[in-house]
Amino acid sequence: MGDWIRAGTRSELDQKGWLLVWIAEDWPVVVFGIGNEVYVVDAHCTHQDAWLQQGTLDTTAHQISCPLHDARFDLATGQAIRGPAAAPLTTYPSQIAGDGTIWLQPVLPWWQAP
Ligand code: FES
Repeated sequence: MGDWIRAGTRSELDQKGWLLVWIAEDWPVVVFGIGNEVYVVDAHCTHQDAWLQQGTLDTTAHQISCPLHDARFDLATGQAIRGPAAAPLTTYPSQIAGDGTIWLQPVLPWWQAP
């Protein structure tokens, strides 16, 4: 597990509905907010790398649909609920501090495993 890194603030998340965070040059993740819940997942779809923050957020099911071919992912588990994507998204631990700062922990994603 890596150190916690700052992802933004709750007010920034509420304004956009998502926050894009670059953990490294080739490692973007996206923060989604639904009510009091915050989810952090890989920013790229596991099918053909579309940007998931441009997709459709289902605030009832807590799922994101890819804007390119409509794959659907569970934000809590990262599992692909609907194809054509089959591989899951990596999910990252997150927390909101008392001052509204959102923190995430850059765990090693499955696609970077040795
Ligand atoms: S790139 Fe996301 S479903 Fe194809």
